Amino acid sequence: MRALIVHPPTPSAHLVERPAPVLGSGEVRVRVLECGVCGTDHDIVEGQYGKPPEGSAELILGHENLGRVMESGPSVSGWAPGQLVVATVRRSCNACRFCRSGQSDFCETGRYTERGIFGRSGYMAEQYVEAPEYLVAVPEELRPVAVMLEPMSVAEKAIVEGQRALDRKEPTPGYPRTEPLRALVAGTGAIGILASLILRLRGYTVTAIDRHDASTPAGQLLQVMGVRHVNAAAGTSALGSDRFDLIVEATGAIALDFDLLGLLAINGVLVLTGIPNARAPPIPVAAGALLRQMVLANQAVVGSVNANRSYFEAGVRDFTEAYRRWPGLLERFVTRRRPLEEFVEVLGHREGGAIKNVLVVDASA
Ligand code: BGC
Repeated sequence: MRALIVHPPTPSAHLVERPAPVLGSGEVRVRVLECGVCGTDHDIVEGQYGKPPEGSAELILGHENLGRVMESGPSVSGWAPGQLVVATVRRSCNACRFCRSGQSDFCETGRYTERGIFGRSGYMAEQYVEAPEYLVAVPEELRPVAVMLEPMSVAEKAIVEGQRALDRKEPTPGYPRTEPLRALVAGTGAIGILASLILRLRGYTVTAIDRHDASTPAGQLLQVMGVRHVNAAAGTSALGSDRFDLIVEATGAIALDFDLLGLLAINGVLVLTGIPNARAPPIPVAAGALLRQMVLANQAVVGSVNANRSYFEAGVRDFTEAYRRWPGLLERFVTRRRPLEEFVEVLGHREGGAIKNVLVVDASA
């Protein structure tokens, strides 16, 4: 089969022939249809992130995936050939209490693996095999957007984490549990757009900032969803005196993260999802003023990474609801689909203004 391999930490990406994986008795074989490309993939190709499986120098890239079931091993039942599936990314360390209870996204040992990223081969290949517990069935009507279920799961978890932190206050009789509902989303790549979608479904008023005018694909989608778009290319002062109860950050831009702290309302929560460059040079911040504000205004900052199976299932429910609410919208979430052979062009540069670029492995279905 064809497979797109990388050699972290050496910058590289090659399309090669490799043997198809052997199907274990408790596994399902999946034919890959397409894979999304995200900042993490760019980091791996550039040699800044990622790790090959133990004892190997090469890693099959790709973690945002969509495929169809081909066959099941003899001890697996309930997976019909042709079923659309998305596989989760992180695999248990088999040691900590979170991994043992299906929450490897909260792994305590750090000895987890992640398919296509960290110590375990990914999905940019014609086939993969996987245990059913890591496969999420996707309804056929979600076919156009299902390749974005993995980033959707990351956004779902981030918003649950933020909501939990907001809910740390006692309920106030006569008021809705989750009021007030002013959200800011920083960044309008896939995670930012998907977070905006989820927040709108939950009834938040949403403002989204990026460094573009509203004519980009993202800007147009935000308008359909009733999200206010603000071009913050010149800084967050573009938001004036507006303050927000929940801020979801999806950029990894370090200086911006600190600016966002200054935009929190009293009792507000900032959820960070972008993965900053750990080797970036230090920056000056008004630490005293920010920390003082956090204490005096009961504010919280929460980091959120990855997502377990329950958030993929939440993503299926929310995509289904979004289909009903905004007909024709989800079909526009993928900016560009390119055949796998064009990986150099797609992985070679980070495209500002695009929501999601996708590599098509099998165009037949
Ligand atoms: C993936 C997550 C993963 C994280 C850190 C993200 O791009 O979507 O599944 O946990 O990178 O490796």
